[in-house]
Amino acid sequence: MKQSQPLCQLDEIPDNGAIAVRIATVTGGSELIVLRQGDCAFAYHNECPHAGRNLDFAPGKFLVQGGCVTCAVHGATFTVATGACCGGPARSGLVGLPVEVVDGIVRLK
Ligand code: FES
Repeated sequence: MKQSQPLCQLDEIPDNGAIAVRIATVTGGSELIVLRQGDCAFAYHNECPHAGRNLDFAPGKFLVQGGCVTCAVHGATFTVATGACCGGPARSGLVGLPVEVVDGIVRLK
């Protein structure tokens, strides 16, 4: 049985907030934004589809409000639960990764 990759403890993420998590890849690693809404977690590549910049305004610091995360560069907004673009200059949504919360640990499926 394949073991899913742990990303972080759910409690490390502020409720209705987000943290950055770096994962290892064959090409040298990738940074994710991992968001929390209550007992649910969502993960996306920390890369805005508008101009390819990171979403955070400072390393690991994200603007999350009203169920949306806002890119700090030009203000595109994305729905936390789906990654869909809901405002601003981006024409597509965030690229997500499936995650699950098992025993308080957020894991890639
Ligand atoms: S790079 Fe994110 S809105 Fe432009």
